[in-house]
Amino acid sequence: MKKRILSGIQPSGELHLGNYFGMMSRMIEYQEKNDLFCCIVNLHALTTIDDKSILSGNTLNAATDFIALGLDPKKTTFWIQGDVPQVCQSTWLFSNITNMGLLDRSTSYKDKIAKGLKPNVGLYSYPILMASDILLYGAHKVPVGKDQKQHIEIARDIAIRFNKIYGETFVLPEPSIEENNRLVPGIDGNKMSKSYKNFIPIFGSEKNIRKKFMSILTDSADINEPKDIDSTLFKLYSLFLNLNEIEELKDRFLAPGMRYGDVKKELFEKFWLHFEPFRKRRDYLSNHKDFVLSSLKEGAEKATIVADLYLDKMREAMGLNYG
Ligand code: TYM
Repeated sequence: MKKRILSGIQPSGELHLGNYFGMMSRMIEYQEKNDLFCCIVNLHALTTIDDKSILSGNTLNAATDFIALGLDPKKTTFWIQGDVPQVCQSTWLFSNITNMGLLDRSTSYKDKIAKGLKPNVGLYSYPILMASDILLYGAHKVPVGKDQKQHIEIARDIAIRFNKIYGETFVLPEPSIEENNRLVPGIDGNKMSKSYKNFIPIFGSEKNIRKKFMSILTDSADINEPKDIDSTLFKLYSLFLNLNEIEELKDRFLAPGMRYGDVKKELFEKFWLHFEPFRKRRDYLSNHKDFVLSSLKEGAEKATIVADLYLDKMREAMGLNYG
């Protein structure tokens, strides 16, 4: 039996290079040989978005972007999280076997609080909803960026606890993290993130994206000094190169005469060329919304079959079925 691979992405703003290299491009690659499940997690986005037109617009955009980038709804079960409400019921069921200590340790929650976000219960129990996403579909492997590793560990802990109390029910999921792109940096050198405003969007106007590339933070090394190969510019450029090309870039960085400005321009051109076919497809899909919507509907139907199966096992194991 093929192993099931599953991941999700929040429709909380424009999708960026961190999302693409951390998760999306790998999911697209995996769809060829695996049983792939992928969802746009609009219920998770409710923890930070309270404007209905922003949430619904972002949701459709995220789905369209993913298909434009190569996710094939014929090969992959692709749906909108909230269209399979079974995930809310299992979240409640899992809540009753999850110790608060497990959630208190969530670094992502702690980071958000430290940044001044006023937490609601949804934000606190976010990892339980994410555990439901993973467990309710029997996923073995979860491709994510490094920032999500702890969430997968929490999902695994919840599965272990459920299986211990109620008997073997859930697959124990494993995170799958790409060593080379563990965390894609933003233009200021911190983790690229929608909430830090340091991100480079995948789609958008040429002028704005060029500006983003030109603002990548660099040091003040003189033109003839060797340049830092641990810098943000080097890391971002490497995302578009194979191993030999990375070695060549290293040589250029270490040799005299290299100007950061020239490398930034060159990197922008590489980026623009890389996403050219996807931009064309994105334009096509935005004029063929029906295709996106019907693909999502089909995806939700397929996902529901699996979710129902697991939910029924849970209900039975917990004593919710009677008579
Ligand atoms: P989200 O929406 O923040 O990000 C989606 C994916 O992009 C990865 N990512 C990055 N990878 C490398 N470098 C970066 N700078 C970077 N920024 C984002 C994330 O690691 C993620 O893989 N909680 C999840 C969504 C979720 C989910 C799930 C994921 C909900 N249910 C079930 C997997 C399985 C999140 O907020 O991802």
